[in-house]
Parts: sequence; structure tokens; C-alpha cells
Amino acid sequence: MDFITRVAAPEAVKADCIAVGIYADGELTAQARSLDAAAKGALRAAVKSGDATGKKGSCAMLRQLPGVTVPRVLLVGLGKRQEYGDKAFLEAVAVAVKGAGTAVKELALAATDWAPAGRDSQWVARQLVLAAREAVFRADELKSSKDDAPSAVERVVLLLTGRDAAADQGLAQGNAIANGVELAKRLGNLPPNVCTPSFLAEEAKKLGRSHKLAVEVLERRKLEALKMGSFLSVAKGSAEPPKLIVMKYEGAKAKGAAPIVLVGKGITFDSGGISIKPSAAMDEMKFDMCGAASVFGALRAAAEMKLPLNLVGIVPACENLPSGSASKPGDIVTSMSGQTIEVLNTDAEGRLILCDALTYAERFKPAAVVDIATLTGACVVALGDVNSGLFSPDDALADELLAAAKNAVDWAWRLPVQEDYQEQLKSNFADMANIGLPGKAGAVIGACFLHRFAKAYPWAHLDIAGTAWKGGEKKGATGRPVPLLAQFLMQRAG
Ligand code: BES
Ligand code: MN
Ligand code: ZN
Repeated sequence: MDFITRVAAPEAVKADCIAVGIYADGELTAQARSLDAAAKGALRAAVKSGDATGKKGSCAMLRQLPGVTVPRVLLVGLGKRQEYGDKAFLEAVAVAVKGAGTAVKELALAATDWAPAGRDSQWVARQLVLAAREAVFRADELKSSKDDAPSAVERVVLLLTGRDAAADQGLAQGNAIANGVELAKRLGNLPPNVCTPSFLAEEAKKLGRSHKLAVEVLERRKLEALKMGSFLSVAKGSAEPPKLIVMKYEGAKAKGAAPIVLVGKGITFDSGGISIKPSAAMDEMKFDMCGAASVFGALRAAAEMKLPLNLVGIVPACENLPSGSASKPGDIVTSMSGQTIEVLNTDAEGRLILCDALTYAERFKPAAVVDIATLTGACVVALGDVNSGLFSPDDALADELLAAAKNAVDWAWRLPVQEDYQEQLKSNFADMANIGLPGKAGAVIGACFLHRFAKAYPWAHLDIAGTAWKGGEKKGATGRPVPLLAQFLMQRAG
């Protein structure tokens, strides 16, 4: 699907269809009004007759209107004006793309008219691309006969009333970010027998070649030499070798500029290990590498936007499986930082691989480190699938990420990382345990554990356990939080 801007009057634009917005009370947006004037009241008549309601999620197709050169006019319901906002904008775009029918290849959208309060044309263009590509995404890579396309639209035209370079820029940003989102979804959706640590390492090398990233993959021997005893303890139950994937993007004007480091949890399958999980929906633990996938996606988006900053992606990747060589509850491991950890529950493995990656990150002298992980079921209990959990002891960094989340409509909600919780991690035998007390702030405890390894730089942690994928009938990776991360990087790049 490609995207362009075009300057034209709505009644004269060259396209197979034009989509204009109407609110639930029947109020027409500006371009709908000018179409209505050209078509001698045909749009208002459709509202009056009840053919078009303006209700959120609805649309009505009108054909061959007098005074209008484009053969179809799609009236897209924006819902109630008082309730209209960023999310409603995205939904309206999806409705337009899916509602265009089987004959529309080129769809013009009068979408600057639909801009939510405070959003400029660049935002509209960027989010338009993301919403449209989201609407038509399919995960049928491994199906022998492909799913039906949800839309025949091949080209989306953002209709403008005058030349607007910011809108063109927005389309380019939207395409870059959507490429990142789709990469994250694809990696997330692939089955765990295909998407292994070695597969992720190969994908990183491919991304390196196509997007000029320097990629290095550290093998078990190197991880041993680095004394990553915590990471290695998780990997040792599996026959699949662990990989530490390091990807570098250098876009900063000043060569040695301190990088942003993104660290992504790459558990390609989480059975729980010896502390094995119940079997219901265990297949969904293939999504336990969605943090890693979001790092791939964010790097891809940043590289395609040629952001002027330096960026490092670090992905510790392994499987968490039970076997004769697996970690046992009670084992004590020594992390790369030298701190010892009593593994009271082998299912709290994400923090065990991330802590060594966070220590490894120190060597890049980062401007900031953000880790992204499907870390805790407790975060799903706290925030559901709406907000990712955001944890940071650094107010400025937290505010930056929250602003990015809002702008990208990829929401996050801040939860505490507070010293007072640390006592839950006390161990009688090691520097810390890897779990706290059952039923007590599990998502916070996960963050507090990581904080012990992230003292050398400004740091934030995103728990995406509830947001990285959907279960049930719509099972699949969401690509979140790539939009949030991309927006954060754009803000950092200025
Ligand atoms: N990958 C899981 C977290 C998870 C669970 C994400 C369910 C999404 C849905 C993680 O490795 C895990 O198992 N965490 C444990 C931690 C506990 C043992 C302290 C959890 O949340 O139960
Ligand atoms: Mn686990
Ligand atoms: Zn896990």
C-alpha cells in the first residue's frame, strides 16, 4: 500500500473514491461541506434519510453524485464530536480503508479535516499511514493459501487544500514506523520452532545489511568470558544456543555522541522452566520475545527516517525450558555485575537475562537506556492491554516517554520504582532473590530487580506483557511499543 499527498478540491480530485468525515450529529467536516455544495446537497440528503449516521465505526457509500468527478464518496462516521480524539481518528482511517469496498484501488482521504484537537498535518499524515497499514495487516506468511485482503486499496491519497511539506514528511515517517511495526509483528507471530535465538541473530544480520547497521552476535563462549552467569543460567535448559545480539545505528552529526540504548527481552519461548507454567495458552509464550522484536522495529524505523542520533540495540535471546541441565529453584547464579541472585522461581527469567544485558550496556556510555520486556503477568493485571507499564527513577526520562506514548497513541502509564519495595527481594543466601512476595506489586518488583543493574545511566523500563500481543480470536503481535519508541527517538533527534 502506498501513500501520497495531492492538492485538489474534493469534488475534482482524481481517485476511485473520496472519503470525507461526518460527525454523529450529522455535522459535515469542511471538505464534506464543499462536496455537498458541489453535489447540490447530496451529502446532507444522505444524512437526512438515515443512510449516513456519522456513528463511530460506520460508513456509507454514495455513487455518481452530480457535480463531482470522483465516482464514489464515502461518508465516514467520526462519532460524537465531544468524544472525538486521537484513537477515533485512527479508527476512522481504518473504517475508510476497509469500507472502500472491492473496486476502489485509489482512495483519497480528506483526513486533515479529521485532525483531532492539537494535531497538525504531519501527525495526521504519519498516523494515517500507521492506521491504514494496521487495518490491512495479515499474518499469513506460513499459510499455503493466503487470507483474503481486507481491502482492495493500493494507494491512499491524503487530500490537501495547499502544498504542505510537513504532510509529505509525515507520510514518510509513517511508512518508516509502519515498517518497524510490521517487522516486530512478523517476528512476534513466527512460531517458536522457527523464531529461535539463532533465527533472531540471522534476522539482525539481515537488518544490518539492508539498513546499514553494524551487527555483532555474541556466542556462548563470549558470554562465558563476559561472566554473564545470570543470562547463561536461563539458556542452559535448552539445546538452542543463546545469542547476545548487538545492533548499532550511527546517525549523529557528532561521531562519538552518546547513544540511546534499547534493550529487548528475547525469550523465544517461555515454558517457565522447572517452575513450569500451566499448559493453557502456553503457546502464547512464543510472544515472550516481543521486547526484542520492538528493538528490531525501532532500529529499522530510526534508520529509515535517518534520525540524527546514535542508537544501540541489545537483545539477549534464549529459550526458557525445563531439562536435566536447566536451572533449579534455589540455584544461585552470579551476574556479570558480580551481584549474586538466588533463583527462587525459574519462570522469573526475563529479569535474569536483562540484568546482564543492562550491565553490558554500560560500555556504550549511554545517554539513556530503555529496556522493553514482556516481564510480568502482574503488569497485565494492573494495566490490561491499554497501557504499557513505564518504570523509571528519572522523572525527566519518564516524562519524555509518556509524551511520546501520547503522541504515538501507544499508551504507557507510570508505575513506581521505589527503594521501599526492594526489601521484597532479600535473600538469605545471595545478594537478592529473583522474585518477591506472591500477589504483592509483581510488576514493580520486576522493575526494582532491574534497577539494581541500571545505576550507571538514566534508565527506564517498559513492561509490555499486556500490550505486545492480543490473545483469543485476534491472536497476534501488536507491534507495540514500536510507535512509542520511534516517537521517543524522533523527539531525542529534535
Ligand atoms: N513472560 C512472563 C510474563 C508474562 C506472563 C507475560 C503472562 C504475559 C503474560 C515472565 O517470564 C513470567 O513468567 N513472569 C512471572 C514472574 C513471577 C514468577 C514472579 C509471572 O508474571 O508470573
Ligand atoms: Mn517466565
Ligand atoms: Zn518470560
